[in-house]
Amino acid sequence: MKFATKTLHAGVHPDPETGAIMTPIYQTSTYVQRSPGDHDGYEYSRTHNPTRTQLQDNLAALENGKWGLCFSSGMGAIDTICKLLKPGDEVIATNDLYGGSYRLFTKVYEAFGIKFHFTDLSNTDNFKNLINANTKMVWVETPTNPMLTIIDIEGITALAKSNGILSVVDNTFASPFLQNPLDLGADLVMHSVTKYINGHSDVVMGALIGNDEILLERLSFYQNACGAVPGPQDCFLVLRGIKTLHLRMERHCENGRIIAQFLREHPKVAKVYWPGFTDHPNHEIAKRQMKDFGGMMSFTLKSDSIEDAHSFLSKTELFSLAESLGGVESLCGHPASMTHASIPREERMKSGLVDSLIRLSVGIEDVQDLIDDIKKALA
Ligand SMILES: Cc1ncc(COP(=O)(O)O)c(C=O)c1O
Repeated sequence: MKFATKTLHAGVHPDPETGAIMTPIYQTSTYVQRSPGDHDGYEYSRTHNPTRTQLQDNLAALENGKWGLCFSSGMGAIDTICKLLKPGDEVIATNDLYGGSYRLFTKVYEAFGIKFHFTDLSNTDNFKNLINANTKMVWVETPTNPMLTIIDIEGITALAKSNGILSVVDNTFASPFLQNPLDLGADLVMHSVTKYINGHSDVVMGALIGNDEILLERLSFYQNACGAVPGPQDCFLVLRGIKTLHLRMERHCENGRIIAQFLREHPKVAKVYWPGFTDHPNHEIAKRQMKDFGGMMSFTLKSDSIEDAHSFLSKTELFSLAESLGGVESLCGHPASMTHASIPREERMKSGLVDSLIRLSVGIEDVQDLIDDIKKALA
C-alpha cells in the first residue's frame, strides 16, 4: 500500500460483529474470560485495548515499522524509552530539541545517574567525538525545534550501529508523511501524536514505532508496568485524524513554502529558518531524507527586540499565540518564553535560539489570508 492508502486502511478493519466501518471506541476497562486465562487476547485495558491496537498497527504501517506502541503523551513515550537506560549510561542528544525532552533528561533522569551530552548533531563529527564505552543512546530530533536544523539520519544511525548505540529519532516535526527514520537506519521512531499525526489540536498522545522484537518486548513491558497509556476515545480521534494526514501535510507544505518566501522578502525580517531554502545549510540532506519541507519555520526581526517580537505575537489574528504545532489551524509562538523556557539561556543561545525568535506552525487555511495576517502584525 502507498502512504495515502495506508492512512485509511492499514491496521484497521470493519468491526467483525456489526460491520461498522469505523473502528469502535472500546470504552471498557476489562474483558470477560471464559475460564481463567481463556480469552481472546484482551484481559485489561492498560495492557491492551482493541481501539488502541488498531491505532498502533496503523502507526507502525505509516512508519514502515513492524510494531507501534501508544502512550498518553509524547513525554510518556520518551519517558518509556529512558527506562531502557541504567545508572552510568550516557546519551548523546541534539542541542536544539524540544524543551520538555531536555527537562525530562536533565531534571528527571540525570538524578538516576544517567549522563546526557547535548551537541549539534548536524555535524556528525560532534557525535563521533562524544562516543565512549558508556554511550548507549543517541537522541535525534530533525528538523530541530525551533531552529529547523536538519540532521543526517543515515549518517548518525550508521555511526550508532557500528558502535552498538541505540538510535532514536523524534519525528514529530516531519510526521511520517515527510520522513521515515526506520528506513534510514533508526532503531526507534518517537512521535508526539498530539501534533501532525492527530492534526486537530484535540488530543495529547505519544507513540513509539520500531522493528526489533526485543525492543518491543521491553517497551511494551514498561507500557503496561508503568501505565502511561491513552484512552480508547483518544485513539479513535487519532485514527480519524490520520485519515487526512497526507492531504493536510500537502497543504502545510504548500502554504509553508509561500509563507517562508514572503517572510524572507519582508523588510522587517532578519532571518528565516526553513529547510526548503536552497541556501539552508542542510538543504541537500533535507532533500534527500524528506519528501517535502513542511510548514514549520522560525524567523527573527531586524530590530532583534523582544518587545517587537511580543508585539507581532499579540497582533496576529489567524496565527493564534499558543503552545504546540501541527494542527490544521496556524499557530505562532515565542520559544524563549514558551516551549523552550526550561532550557537555560546560555544553552539556547548556543543553538541560535535568540530572544526575538518567533516560531510559526503554518496551518491549512487560505494562504493569502495568512499572509495578510502576518503583513498586518509586522506593520
Ligand atoms: C518535538 C517534540 N517532541 C516531543 C513533544 C512532547 O509531546 P507531548 O506534548 O505530546 O507530550 C513535543 C511537544 O511539543 C515536541 O514538539
